[in-house]
Amino acid sequence: MKTKLLIITTILGFLIIAPLKGQQSGNAVTDAILKAYSARMFVSEPVNDSDIETILKAGMKAPSARNLQPWFFTVVKDKALLKELMPNITDNNILIVISGKEGNTVEYDCGLASGYMYLAAQALGLGAHIYAGPVAAINTSKKEALGIPEGYRAIMVIRVGHTDKSVDAVSAASSRKKIEEMVVYK
Ligand SMILES: Cc1cc2nc3c(=O)[nH]c(=O)nc-3n(C[C@H](O)[C@H](O)[C@H](O)COP(=O)(O)O)c2cc1C
Repeated sequence: MKTKLLIITTILGFLIIAPLKGQQSGNAVTDAILKAYSARMFVSEPVNDSDIETILKAGMKAPSARNLQPWFFTVVKDKALLKELMPNITDNNILIVISGKEGNTVEYDCGLASGYMYLAAQALGLGAHIYAGPVAAINTSKKEALGIPEGYRAIMVIRVGHTDKSVDAVSAASSRKKIEEMVVYK
């Protein structure tokens, strides 16, 4: 039931509430979606393991075509590896590499898992940012170091960490196109 609600509110959030920044709706799930933004001002407070586990479980709850769950997650905490993947990363941030097993809907499925993890991190009061940037380099030379299984390739990377609390969601969020440009009712 909770998963269904999250799917519905995620779709509504993307379709209907597009231009809004840092708004509230009076519902915990939609509030988390409406307040979410791609964090850029991270601080070095460590992310606790139970939050990481909750974020991973949220990713695993994502729907996938034929329930194939074609994803594999690498949680990167090793400082040297983190710097290789993202040279300017803040201390004690973590990266989660979402890899997918080849198949028709792998990017869509892994995209949903990424979105769920992004929102779960934000709902837990953490900052999160999705990156496609490091993916090519990972697939060229870092799959083994990241424990990515044979037949899988990196699809997306999510950075998670604590954020500078002086940054508020309204000013940090990027704007969205106007609702009239993207929605039609028939
Ligand atoms: C599939 C995907 C790939 C992205 N790749 C990058 C990236 O490589 N570097 C980056 O700084 N941000 C990246 N982003 C973050 C977007 O730039 C950001 O979500 C967008 O500008 C909207 O900003 P907001 O989330 O703060 O509202 C990516 C987001 C998505 C969904």
